Amino acid sequence: MSDAIRILVVLAEHADRSRIESALEGDSALEPIGYADRLDDWQTFLEQPGDVVVVASYGHDEGVTAMVGYAVKHRPDRPVLVMSEASPNGFLRQVFEAGADDVITLPQSAEDVAFTLQKVLARRKGVSVPGKASAPLIAVLGPKGGTGKTLIATNLAVALAQRDANVVLVDLDLQFGDIGLALGLSPERTMYDLMKAGAPFDHEKLERHLIRHSSGVKVLIAPTRPDQASAVSIDFLRDIYASLRTMCDAVIVDTPPGFTPEVIATIDVSTEICMVGMLDSLSLKNTKLGLETLDLMGYDTDHVSLVLNRADSRVGITPDDVSTIVGRGPDVSVPSDREIPRSVNEGTPIVAARQSSAAAKAFRTLADRYAKAPVPRPAPLQKPPSGVRSLIGRRR
Ligand SMILES: Nc1ncnc2c1ncn2[C@@H]1O[C@H](COP(=O)(O)OP(=O)(O)OP(=O)(O)O)[C@@H](O)[C@H]1O
Ligand SMILES: [Mg+2]
Repeated sequence: MSDAIRILVVLAEHADRSRIESALEGDSALEPIGYADRLDDWQTFLEQPGDVVVVASYGHDEGVTAMVGYAVKHRPDRPVLVMSEASPNGFLRQVFEAGADDVITLPQSAEDVAFTLQKVLARRKGVSVPGKASAPLIAVLGPKGGTGKTLIATNLAVALAQRDANVVLVDLDLQFGDIGLALGLSPERTMYDLMKAGAPFDHEKLERHLIRHSSGVKVLIAPTRPDQASAVSIDFLRDIYASLRTMCDAVIVDTPPGFTPEVIATIDVSTEICMVGMLDSLSLKNTKLGLETLDLMGYDTDHVSLVLNRADSRVGITPDDVSTIVGRGPDVSVPSDREIPRSVNEGTPIVAARQSSAAAKAFRTLADRYAKAPVPRPAPLQKPPSGVRSLIGRRR
């Protein structure tokens, strides 16, 4: 019996069948077993045995997401890929939200298509829960600068990687991002290059723009110059998140201080928030304001963790006072440790560099919260009321 991947192809309205055929019929690893047009009874066609469903389209039309959604629901154990010649803004997000496992943008050689299909099937074998895997997206927030967001984002990422999770860390501090520095990575490719490369943000393109740290964490580095920050489009960012969530076990986003438009867009699509506060009254006041803002945005508080950094500082505020000021106690407390700046200088987060330290233990406790998290549910979000917009600052 042949080991070729058996493919059921469903053609949406503007799909060019001859192009799809040439992408699928030139490699012995691929075996298209039939094509169904949108006017055919394609639902019955999908009853047939096959390893993969390919929904072919020319960019977006409503039929594509409906076809993807049907194919996913009908057989959640069978991967669904979209093949498209065009990828207008928002297209990737829509098809990924409908449940697609990957998107192949044509033209591509049959060999490359075979490679992508093999990867999707291999990834599926590692997934125990049937259905589409969509990784949690954890946004690390702190309304005030210098509270330890970057420290927490990097250590959380490495702590999860230490448990064999495939983690992508995104540096959303577009003007002054320092994750590359904190992890000792050279910014060979950054988010700026990715934005310049443009849509579609398929897995190949994303992988090419991620820089690997020795812990295994893959990093999307912030633009290296503040003037490059304006190249980052929020629409693209959403597409990038959607695509990253289908190719790893967790996406962690380090953010700049405050609620910038990029941060709000990230909160909108996040499944978990890690709010970072420090043990001083100004920071705690801002932490309280930040938590209230999330509340006004309709964010489910069950998905918000509070991390208190430098929790042992002798500044006249006890951790117990925190509950009174902020309205809730911390979920995790990270002590001050002079090894932390040293580990940053070495490019190895303390959770890896000094595993027995109290700080490393705190980061592992934080990682426990996400490692044990059930299949994530996106928090229901409303648009912040206009009063909140003034609270969170003007949109650029
Ligand atoms: N618990 C700690 N013990 C010792 N040093 C710490 C601790 N937390 C943070 N630092 C140091 O404080 C500085 C600020 O931390 P970090 O860069 O993580 O803050 P941030 O919230 O990301 O800042 P920004 O808002 O500028 O992005 C860093 O030099 C970091 O090493
Ligand atoms: Mg930072």
